[in-house]
Amino acid sequence: MEILYAVAEAAPFVKVGGLADVAYGLPRALRALGHDVRVILPRYRTINGSAYDLRPLRPPLPVPLGLTGETRLVEIEVSEATGVPTYFIWEEHYFGRDEVYGYPDDPQRFIFFCRAVLAFMRHINWRPQVLHGNDWHTGFLFLWLATAGRRDRFYRPIATVFTIHNMAYQGITGDALLAFGGIHEHVERLEVEPPGHVNWLARGIAHADVVNTVSPRYAREILTPEFGFGLEPLLQRRADRLFGILNGLDPEAWDPRSDPALAARFDAETLERRAENKRAAQHAFGLPLREEVPLFALIGRLIEQKGVDLLLETADALFARGIQVAILGTGMPEYEAAFAQWPSRFPGQASVRIAFDEELSRLLYGGADVFLMPSKFEPCGLGQMIAMRYGALPLVHAVGGLADTVRDVSQEDGTGFVFAPFTGEAFLAAVDRALALYRDPAAWRVIQRRAMAQDFSWAASARAYEDLYRRAIAWHNP
Ligand code: GLC
Repeated sequence: MEILYAVAEAAPFVKVGGLADVAYGLPRALRALGHDVRVILPRYRTINGSAYDLRPLRPPLPVPLGLTGETRLVEIEVSEATGVPTYFIWEEHYFGRDEVYGYPDDPQRFIFFCRAVLAFMRHINWRPQVLHGNDWHTGFLFLWLATAGRRDRFYRPIATVFTIHNMAYQGITGDALLAFGGIHEHVERLEVEPPGHVNWLARGIAHADVVNTVSPRYAREILTPEFGFGLEPLLQRRADRLFGILNGLDPEAWDPRSDPALAARFDAETLERRAENKRAAQHAFGLPLREEVPLFALIGRLIEQKGVDLLLETADALFARGIQVAILGTGMPEYEAAFAQWPSRFPGQASVRIAFDEELSRLLYGGADVFLMPSKFEPCGLGQMIAMRYGALPLVHAVGGLADTVRDVSQEDGTGFVFAPFTGEAFLAAVDRALALYRDPAAWRVIQRRAMAQDFSWAASARAYEDLYRRAIAWHNP
């Protein structure tokens, strides 16, 4: 199959969150299955062109602006660094900035990107069977193909797949942006759109041939008000087109047998070597080097989604249990400030590093005993999978991809500690289950080995996407 994969970020070129890892892992796995998949994203200024051997593709691409027929010439660059042809759209005004997201004109920036994607296919005269977009940034593609594109013989045959990585980010704008996107016909308002507004996530959901999320459980959760963020009526209407496919983990990129960031490399047979990583992690975080004290780690964005409120709420009770906690991440200033007080409140027990530091995170995955991921909601999540592979037992809230990847130790084949509901009590009860197990090193090791043996490779997910593409094609051309 020929597939064009449109996305706002892709590792290793540019990464803000888990989306970038998916945009790296999935296309590669699809290539391995023999598909002609290519990736397209904006060329942000921060992307290091020489590191990834970006080369210009001539001639430059005229991208229409607004309704007037005016165009802007953009540079296209291409890289083969990942083994998947990856195209970059360079337009200085929109993408010559330091950050990927967070500007008031983000909707314009990504609508412009979408128009460039559409123009690009015709420009190189390559019409994929499937156009696969991700998150609200690509929502415009689906609206355009379902309206203006339908009258165009080049675009009409293209089947579409839309993947939702997070319902919390929707991209809601005034409907004047329709004209900016070159859509002049009347566009019917969706039931979930306030009058005069367009919701770009909703547009992807409404117009794609097939919609999916990044875990089966999240695909069911978002049909409810608790997780649907207001779009549940639309999702329910499209439930027959809605699927859930778990993300994979790149087993080469995350391998404790060869990870150079670790103080000691290890596998399931040499788990005793983790002690050296624990010491190194305690040292790096300025915590007392005590092997017998359980080391808990939280790695990730400090935002409400990640359930950090539960930690802040239960801090006194948590540290009364005598554990160490290492925190590594950046996020909302309020949370950063709250955690910054922990080391002085809980000296010798809490250490907080407000930073994005991949090397340090690897050492922590390889040395921590328990990996905390109490997310309020979690479409898939990557940290818990990495933790399992590195022998740190995950402690997670029973939602989304966390529930789909971790089983509680009280069940057969347990791989971690799973709690519900989302309360401090349930969270602390899971901490206590972890501490009880920790007192029995032989039993702990059994669970560690089982966690390490879980298979989260991309191959299985790629097969599921293959099916999804076939369905999209069949639905598009009945
Ligand atoms: C978003 C979600 C996360 C998911 C990632 C990749 O960041 O919050 O759960 O793993 O996208 O799909």
